[in-house]
Amino acid sequence: MLRIWGRQPLKGQVKISGAKNSALVIMAGALLCPDDCRIRNVPSLVDVSRMGEILAALGVTIQRQGDTLEVNASHIGQSKAPYELVSQLRASFFVIGPLLARLGVARVPLPGGCAIGARPVDLHVRGLQAMGADVQIEHGTVHAYIKGNKQRLQGAKIYLDCPSVGATETLMMAATLAEGETIIENAAQEPEVVDLANFCRAMGAKIRGAGTNTITISGVPRLHSTDYSIIPDRIEAGTFLVAGAITHSEISLAPVIPEHLTAVIAKLHTIGAEVITEAPNRVRLVPGQHHRATDIKTMPFPGFPTDMQAQFMALLTLSEGNSVISETVFENRLRHVAELNRMGADITVKGNIAIIRGVPMLSGAPVVATDLRASAALVLAGLAAEGITTIQGLQHLDRGYENLEGKLQGLGAKLCRVESESEPASQPTTESPETANSTASKS
Ligand code: EPZ
Repeated sequence: MLRIWGRQPLKGQVKISGAKNSALVIMAGALLCPDDCRIRNVPSLVDVSRMGEILAALGVTIQRQGDTLEVNASHIGQSKAPYELVSQLRASFFVIGPLLARLGVARVPLPGGCAIGARPVDLHVRGLQAMGADVQIEHGTVHAYIKGNKQRLQGAKIYLDCPSVGATETLMMAATLAEGETIIENAAQEPEVVDLANFCRAMGAKIRGAGTNTITISGVPRLHSTDYSIIPDRIEAGTFLVAGAITHSEISLAPVIPEHLTAVIAKLHTIGAEVITEAPNRVRLVPGQHHRATDIKTMPFPGFPTDMQAQFMALLTLSEGNSVISETVFENRLRHVAELNRMGADITVKGNIAIIRGVPMLSGAPVVATDLRASAALVLAGLAAEGITTIQGLQHLDRGYENLEGKLQGLGAKLCRVESESEPASQPTTESPETANSTASKS
């Protein structure tokens, strides 16, 4: 459990790690490369370790030195991803495109749903079929192989019913080694899609239009090794911006790419908190005296990101006035509402819409996290609440945030991990080294 003593002001600068949602798909993308691949700025996350286990199970050699991964997929031992690993990490489904492109066959268990929704993969499957793959789903596993006497997938024109990040990434990776040209229309435009495209281009892939709604890939016979550095995590950055706003603290974040956070920065401005660019890749959060209510509708990029919805809901519980949040991307991503209400928030849910009536104060309480971003929202609420908040369900948090409590402690927050509710945890002192020394000299 995480125990948080609320209402501590934050100050200083926090380092933002590499993007989780780039790292996971780029690790799968390394399967396209028959040589050594170096991937830098990889965050230390449970999900990243699990993806590493999936690659190792496929016969790929993978070593980690600090935040750098050395991957060699020159020999992929087998085309079946193990169920027990896939069931723990949905993103492992990303291996299906590269396996099909490299080996002509892939057997990947269906990732299944998670707390936030059913998470279907029909757009991935239909796109691969359009590229000449025979795809059958039997006993919970997707069996795909290239039809007829073709050795390689065939370029195709594919229209995505919705701008799915995962489907765009699966099909883009598969198309890099296909015969001919593939056009993906209504493609996702998220920065992590662009990061994957840049990684593939660094290996020699021919990709145009990543970051727009139409991506064109001209297949090449083979890719080559590269040394690539992942973009900073915009969702981690957004989470820390909210941490500054909700505690009315000025804090700096680096590295950050501001244009990856346009919608988030615009919403903070509407609420009354400012994000100032201090250097090319460093921003500063300047809170408002009082924060205003606002309405939020989650949309595909460049719209407001669904991955920041829970964090903003925590912030809006303390804004003056009523806010409305519509979650349009996932069908079950409002599960943090019940836990925030336990902390004194006043939120009602109707379908996928949450109505938040601002309250003057949240009060610390024992709460349970249900999914990754809900966990982050509860941490943020705990930082602002009067008294102590204890959060169970930290396995969700560890999947997506590298050392969150260490980074928050570095900013002056008072929180620590305890084994159980009853465990006494001395309130962590965040005394500065000077006072620590003077105390020591007195004793
Ligand atoms: C990626 O998930 C991210 N995960 C999610 O981040 C993020 O919330 C999501 O994109 C949206 O930005 C990774 O990159 C590992 P989608 P993904 O395919 O690819 C429907 C986090 O917290 N859909 O864009 O699964 C789907 O049901 C995670 O870091 C289909 O209908 O998202 C959803 O309603 C959570 N059929 C919508 O599209 C398909 O074949 C968007 O999903 C695929 C998706």
